[in-house]
Amino acid sequence: MNFEEFYGDALPVLKLAEKHILNTISEYPGFNETPEGIQEIIYCRSRIKSPESMTEKLRRKGLPVNLNSALYKVNDAIGVRVVCSFADDVYNVYRWFSGHPDFEIINVKDYIANPKPNGYRSLHLIIKIVSGDGCGLTAEIQLRTIATDFWAALEHQMKYKHEITHEELIRNELKRCADEIASVDLSMQTLRDIIMNNSWDNEA
Ligand code: GTP
Ligand code: MG
Repeated sequence: MNFEEFYGDALPVLKLAEKHILNTISEYPGFNETPEGIQEIIYCRSRIKSPESMTEKLRRKGLPVNLNSALYKVNDAIGVRVVCSFADDVYNVYRWFSGHPDFEIINVKDYIANPKPNGYRSLHLIIKIVSGDGCGLTAEIQLRTIATDFWAALEHQMKYKHEITHEELIRNELKRCADEIASVDLSMQTLRDIIMNNSWDNEA
């Protein structure tokens, strides 16, 4: 089944809603690189959930497989991923976005403060569009650092492999890498803060 068959007349509305969110994020003051070379948001990706994965998710949750469930019983028919340089940028984008009048934050899962047991770190927002294109629809926004995005992409590959040799060893190594990445993210953040404060000291 293709996107048009599954989402029907709702597909153009979903696409407009997706665009509304992306356009809004592109207005974030740190979206573009500054003349000093600072770029808070490295990239932004988005997708409408494929009919296959939406069907799988609705079945898994015991919900009827129809448009109403896809749009109103689960919240991630629209998914956006915002990849930032540093952990502080993730929270800055979140704070800025939550003050935007077109959106309401209806749920926050902070897997940065509370990583999943496998080491996964990301800030997940469920948002609702309360004004403008896509009004009434919800979306999932995942915010993470570039280093944790790199990790999540590899970890995600495991989901598609049914039989993995040395699975436990690999999972343990992935967990170790996740923790190292988190530690590097923290050091990089600290170094950035020191460097930024230095340049301000020099200007003063
Ligand atoms: P569903 O999994 O969508 O039913 O909802 P949930 O309540 O588990 O939501 P959660 O916020 O935990 O996860 C939503 C999405 O985040 C997933 O569909 C993935 O895209 C991503 N995600 C969550 N956990 C992991 C993880 O351990 N590894 C990776 N690579 N991605 C994850
Ligand atoms: Mg999940």
